[in-house]
This record gives sequence, structure tokens and C-alpha cells, in this order.
Amino acid sequence: MDIGSIGIVGAGQMGNGIAHVCALAGYDVVLTDVSDDALQKAVALIESNLDRQVSRDKVSQADRDGALDRIRTTMTLTDLGACDLIIEAATEREDVKHAIFKELLPSLRPETILTSNTSSISITRLASRTDRPEKFMGFHFMNPVPVMQLVELIRGIATDEATYRACQTVVERLEKQAATAEDFPAFIVNRILMPMINEAVYVLYEGVGTVTSIDTSLKLGANHPMGPLELADFIGLDTCLAIMNVLHDGLADTKYRPCPLLTKYVEAGWLGRKTQRGFYDYR
Ligand code: CAA
Repeated sequence: MDIGSIGIVGAGQMGNGIAHVCALAGYDVVLTDVSDDALQKAVALIESNLDRQVSRDKVSQADRDGALDRIRTTMTLTDLGACDLIIEAATEREDVKHAIFKELLPSLRPETILTSNTSSISITRLASRTDRPEKFMGFHFMNPVPVMQLVELIRGIATDEATYRACQTVVERLEKQAATAEDFPAFIVNRILMPMINEAVYVLYEGVGTVTSIDTSLKLGANHPMGPLELADFIGLDTCLAIMNVLHDGLADTKYRPCPLLTKYVEAGWLGRKTQRGFYDYR
């Protein structure tokens, strides 16, 4: 199936980046959110990120203008009914995602492909509550979306080959690289990345190193662009904890036990950059 239009649910950190890259690649984009404020902020952010790309000669003025023209916003979920592909990038809560798909389904054409940008929730379980598990898969972007090259494509147990190929073609048109993962807890990237971040929190908790010595060690000693604690603040400590819990519950192995210090920070509301305080103080 040829994809021409993409509906994106959720205009937050991931949703606005996904809208940016899809519009820039020539897709008609309909971006929806429950908050008008979130939609306005998302469009302003896309505009400023595109302007920065123009100023660095990465994008032409005409492509920038074209991308912005191709993005339509709406607070009515069913306005996504005519889209060929849906990418759900709403809050990382399973009940919220089920409710979105339930409300959306009656307005969709039978051939529309449904995907979720979830970082760890079971694709098979999300798909099983829709009318089209064979046309459902995981479409997982990395943050910041305009910069990161990878998209993880996750097949649910019922995903058919045509759906997989259609999504793979979209990734190619976005000029990103796909990596295919089977549907097991946290897929590939977060199955490997989150235990590393959790271990860095244990290293801090046990007093082996300070925040700066841990981050400096991985930046200069392993050539990571960000240290693990800086990266945890960037991703959001609540997201890191939620993914560790998915790994711990889903794989029933104590090696995935979330560090008590990570839990304590989340309980304090110190969630990283988004709350101005995490392992670092951004105030
Ligand atoms: N949106 C758009 N562009 C952005 C951006 C954003 N939010 N943040 C940075 N950029 C662009 C900058 O404009 C700059 O562009 P140019 O090359 O054209 O100059 C480029 O990215 C590099 O940015 P900076 O020079 O400001 O800073 P940097 O060199 O320190 O890079 C970074 C910033 C790209 C974020 C880098 O630190 C990095 O790669 N960090 C690791 C990010 C990472 O691991 N992400 C994955 C997280 S895991 C995940 O997302 C999965 C999940 O489910 C949790």
C-alpha cells in the first residue's frame, strides 16, 4: 500500500519530532492532541527546528515552507480518519493507548495501518484490542527525532508482511535506518540501554562514583555522546523507571530490578530536564 498521509497522535516531545520529519519527507501530516496549547507549542518548535536546519544549510527554504504547509493540527481524533498510516505517540500508558485506538477505529478505512511509538509496551497486546492486528506494528523513533537515525520496527505476533514492508518504505523515505525487533519487553534499544542507565544509577547509589565522574567515564571512556545520567535526565527518569519495570515484570529476572535511587527520584518528582531537576539541576 502507498502511504501518502500520516496521522500522528500526541504533539509532545516525540510527536512533534515525528511530524517534523514526516512533513519534511513530503507526507501530508495531521497532528492531534487533547491540548490546544500542546499543538501550538509543537508547531512553534517544529518551525524553530526547521529554521535552524535552514540556517545550517541542511534544509532549503522551499522545503521548510513546504513541510510547514503539509502539517495540519486538530483536537478531534477522528479527523485522522482519512490517513493511510497512524503513528500513536501519546502518553506512555497502556490504558490511554487502548482508549485512543478504540475511539479512532470507527473512523478509519479498513486498509489503514496502525502503529505505536511505544518504547516498551507489548505491540501484540495493543494490536489484539483493535480490529486489525495484522495491520498493526511498533514504529519506534529515538529522541531527538530529527537527529537520530534509527527507527525500530517491531512486529507483533500477527503483523503481516505487507504492513511491515509499507512501514519499512516510510522509514526509507524519511532517510532513516530501520532495525527490526520482535515483540519482547522493551524490544532492542531499551532492552540494552535502560539496564546500562539503571546500572549507572546503582554506581551512584553505592558511592562508586559521583554524577560527573560516572558521566565523564562513559563520555570519554566509551565515546558516548552523553553520559548515562545526563541521558536519563534527557529521556525522563519516569520513562526510564517505567521501562525498567516492564523489563522486570516481563522477563522476571532480578537483573532488571530498578535501582531504589531511581525510584526515589521519580517519587520526589525529580524527573530530569522536563521538571528542571534530575541527576542535574537545570533551574
Ligand atoms: N531537535 C532538532 N535538532 C536537534 C535537537 C532537537 N531536539 N537537539 C539537537 N539538535 C541538532 C542540533 O541543531 C545540531 O545540528 P547541526 O549538526 O546541524 O549543528 C545537532 O543536533 C547536534 O546538536 P548540538 O550541537 O546542540 O549538541 P550535541 O552535539 O551535544 O548533540 C545530541 C546533541 C544529538 C542530543 C547528542 O548529545 C546525542 O546524540 N545524545 C544522545 C541521544 C540519545 O541517545 N538518544 C536516544 C535516547 S533513547 C530513546 O529515545 C528511546 C526511548 O524510547 C527512550
